[in-house]
Amino acid sequence: MVSSTLFTCILTSAVLGQVGSAKPLAKRLDNGLGKTPALGWNTWNAGQCNFATAAKALQAADLFDSLGLKALGYNYINIDDCWSNKARNSSGYLVADPARWPNGMKAVADSLHAKGLKLGLYGDSGTQTCAGYPGSQGYEDKDAKTLASWGVDYWKYDNCATPGGNSQPRYEKMRDTLLSSGRPIFYSLCNWGRDNVWTWGGKVGNSWRITDDNFNSWSYVASIAARGATIAQYGVPGGFNDWDMMQISNGKLNAGEERAHMGLWAIGKSPILLGMDLSKISSSSLAIVKNKALLAINQDPLGKPATTFRPSGAAAPSASALYPYWAGPLSDGVVIGLVAADSAATLTVKFADVPGLGAGTFSWTEVYSGKTGSGTSVSAQLALHDMAVFKVVK
Ligand code: GLA
Repeated sequence: MVSSTLFTCILTSAVLGQVGSAKPLAKRLDNGLGKTPALGWNTWNAGQCNFATAAKALQAADLFDSLGLKALGYNYINIDDCWSNKARNSSGYLVADPARWPNGMKAVADSLHAKGLKLGLYGDSGTQTCAGYPGSQGYEDKDAKTLASWGVDYWKYDNCATPGGNSQPRYEKMRDTLLSSGRPIFYSLCNWGRDNVWTWGGKVGNSWRITDDNFNSWSYVASIAARGATIAQYGVPGGFNDWDMMQISNGKLNAGEERAHMGLWAIGKSPILLGMDLSKISSSSLAIVKNKALLAINQDPLGKPATTFRPSGAAAPSASALYPYWAGPLSDGVVIGLVAADSAATLTVKFADVPGLGAGTFSWTEVYSGKTGSGTSVSAQLALHDMAVFKVVK
């Protein structure tokens, strides 16, 4: 018994050793933004190019209010690909497509700012965006000035139509021009997890995508979270791993899968950028994305992503498959996530096995059911892919 406990401890610390071995970056991007993960909405998953319009941005702003999202901290309204004209103007500047932005981009930014919201735009580090609109390569200075002059707050920078090679210098070039643009602009790196971006993303951007797109199915949700667990240590206030935009209320995930999608992204300290047509969100999905206790965990000022841990008797985690047992520190406790990754299951963890807890009695709240209790363990009976998230305090 003693030796098996010791063995478990060694294995547990080997898994968690990834966290302990994170080397601090010599210098991090400090534009004052992204101290907690970004919360907002993006047009792409909701309606691709069709949603890159003033009308959709302003409708989203109204819905942020009426759905109660703004009150919970959702503030970025991010326009993805297809917002500009297909050609720059004769001076080389990007032009907001007048058919999509009849009063120009600044009018939309002003209107969002007046409501206490922020505007995000999308661009690309190559010659063209992924949908074939002008990229910023060779125009970085002009584009950063344009964004600042319009009052843009967030810039997602993609990786299509590039010359290839290491993407880091391209992303650094845009960082430098954004920093000298005169406006603090959240910088979201979207190189799809290439070039081990998590090892340098913190000195370049406020967030960095860690994988290809979260296409709309459970398998993407699961594989992105599996990747996120292995690089959790790189997320800190000011720069977080970006697990990509949400697919909740987009018709492919059941309620349990939506709870797991939201729960994993929240405890992993990913940005939460909603991706549904907000005018059609279902009430059950709305309840999930409005879960106050879960959002508080995501926005905890400590900003330390949860990762996997191995309870005594559980199979070892693998880097490529979603693992059921997650935990991470909070400024006022510990979060535990339990996800039925492969089959319906009753999952139980003893607090003695949980990093940051240990022997003793703790109080807990499960964020989705609101159930509370206290003891030396927690347990959840879960349907396939469903998740429970426990906030545990001494
Ligand atoms: C890439 C990005 C997506 C989205 C599209 C737009 O695929 O990874 O998030 O921005 O381009 O074309």
